[in-house]
Amino acid sequence: MTIESNRKQIDKKNDALSLNQWNHHNVLDLDDFSHTEIVTVLSLAERMREILDRRIPRVPALRGYTIVNLFFEPSTRTRASFELAGKMLGADVISVSASTSSIQKGESLIDTVRTLRAMRADAIIMRHEMAGAPYLAASHTDASIINAGDGAHAHPTQALLDLYTMKRHVGDLKNKKVVMVGDIAHSRVARSDLWGLSKMGAHVVLCGPPTLLPRGLGVSERPEHAKNALPSVQIETDIDKALRDAHVVMALRLQSERQENGLLPSLREYAENYQVTSTRLIKAQPDYLLMHPGPKNEGIEIASDVARGDRSIIEEQVTNGVAVRMALLYLLSGRVESTQISEGNAP
Ligand code: NCD
Repeated sequence: MTIESNRKQIDKKNDALSLNQWNHHNVLDLDDFSHTEIVTVLSLAERMREILDRRIPRVPALRGYTIVNLFFEPSTRTRASFELAGKMLGADVISVSASTSSIQKGESLIDTVRTLRAMRADAIIMRHEMAGAPYLAASHTDASIINAGDGAHAHPTQALLDLYTMKRHVGDLKNKKVVMVGDIAHSRVARSDLWGLSKMGAHVVLCGPPTLLPRGLGVSERPEHAKNALPSVQIETDIDKALRDAHVVMALRLQSERQENGLLPSLREYAENYQVTSTRLIKAQPDYLLMHPGPKNEGIEIASDVARGDRSIIEEQVTNGVAVRMALLYLLSGRVESTQISEGNAP
């Protein structure tokens, strides 16, 4: 199916889009998103993508809305993506970097967030090395908190942009085989993708060396109390088996900043056994899609020719990230009207 016909399908669905289904003041993870809410975001992202493709990609939909980027960890694309998304919709966007803020003087996260809200921040985009930090922030402010990555826990906006990018190419994700290869145990992207993909009915395969796969993920291995902790997935340590008939292959970076020592014999051995290469990809569907959330380490988790090859949609992921974040900011602002959407004049 072509992107054009997929887009027409999404547009058709826009007519039936119900914003009564949107119940979020914060975006902390995808585990509390319904299928309909995900579809709402993806449909609106398609509208935003049209704005993004205009010669002058600017609309005043969020004029007077204030967004603060609060990043405690390095970031290139997520941070720039949110900043541009806000600006394209006419919002005021500022970035506070933890290394130059009063956090260095011992100010607590709660005080920082409350201070930003006192200056009338409407939305705070937060990246933090501690899992759960955005949840703590959200419980101490009425500004909208968007989780831009918390430790190894969640990265919901990356997952939404991944879903949107896949959907543009393959249409309905139901029963599509999506294989994630790499450091699953430390990847917040994998965890949020897992929730999103399962809600869309995809068949998810997680592949990596045993030391980089979270323990107890297979449903049969889970203790009773953890049966519903994560959706069910296929776990595979053999990459050649995992890639067989895959519609989508996503390579993930080794998250060395979050790894303890001794998980891998050597980088060379890891690359030999788990690098996504053109030889291995012969087993995937002929029109497979190759994705990576970035930043990538070519020559380790992914071969350079594959990363830049004609099945790669890595750069499109980055573009779509802006559109998805525009959609989320617009939904969180509460300015969106269901009639506006269905009449096709939003924003
Ligand atoms: C990811 C992240 O920071 O979690 N990158 C991103 O946001 N696009 C993945 C990574 O760091 O490997």
